[in-house]
Amino acid sequence: MREFILISNHGRTKGDWRDLMKAGRMDIVCHSVISALFLSNAIRNDVTLHIVLNGPPDPPKHIEITYDPDLPISKKDVGNLIRATLWKYKPKRKVKAFPGVFIEKKSFRKIVEEKLDEEIYYLDKKGEDIEKIKFGENPIFVIGDHEGIPKQEKKFLKKNAKAISIGPNMYFTSQCISFLNIWLDRYFNKEKIS
Ligand SMILES: C[S@@+](CC[C@H](N)C(=O)[O-])C[C@H]1O[C@@H](n2cnc3c(N)ncnc32)[C@H](O)[C@@H]1O
Repeated sequence: MREFILISNHGRTKGDWRDLMKAGRMDIVCHSVISALFLSNAIRNDVTLHIVLNGPPDPPKHIEITYDPDLPISKKDVGNLIRATLWKYKPKRKVKAFPGVFIEKKSFRKIVEEKLDEEIYYLDKKGEDIEKIKFGENPIFVIGDHEGIPKQEKKFLKKNAKAISIGPNMYFTSQCISFLNIWLDRYFNKEKIS
């Protein structure tokens, strides 16, 4: 299993939007969902995606999407799934909004703190070249949106995780996720996932 933790600095935390761009760049979140979870002909059964929405009106919100045979997701309609999930939020508990989709109030820091004994990386152009990394079976990757990983969270990650680079260019968030998925598929010699 591999996990991605996406920090959406301004992603709206209530489902009262239609326009993805105006909802704190929810378009980046949707592209990341597609890159993390979709193959051309199937949903990946080896990925969990954590989305941390830090925008108004009630941050933070943690949406977790993981494989479930009944996951109601379509590439054309990821925005509606995120929006509907936000409407299902209930204070003080983790709600199963749909099969494989959960929402709760939890900060990025708390999510990472619960995983500190695991293999955590954060994506940083200046980190160690991915070619040099020996991956275990269950790596976790933290990745920023168009604004990057916030300074104070990077400080925290420097102490608790390893910075890795996928090359000298700055890529879109979703491009990094696609690259990591394909890199790891090849790294573990997985020819067919599902
Ligand atoms: C569009 S970039 C963010 C750009 C932002 N202005 C910054 O300086 O961080 C989105 C995220 O992708 C990751 N990223 C982009 N290019 C990368 C690279 N070459 N190596 C590692 N991570 C990269 C970083 O986590 C970054 O936060």
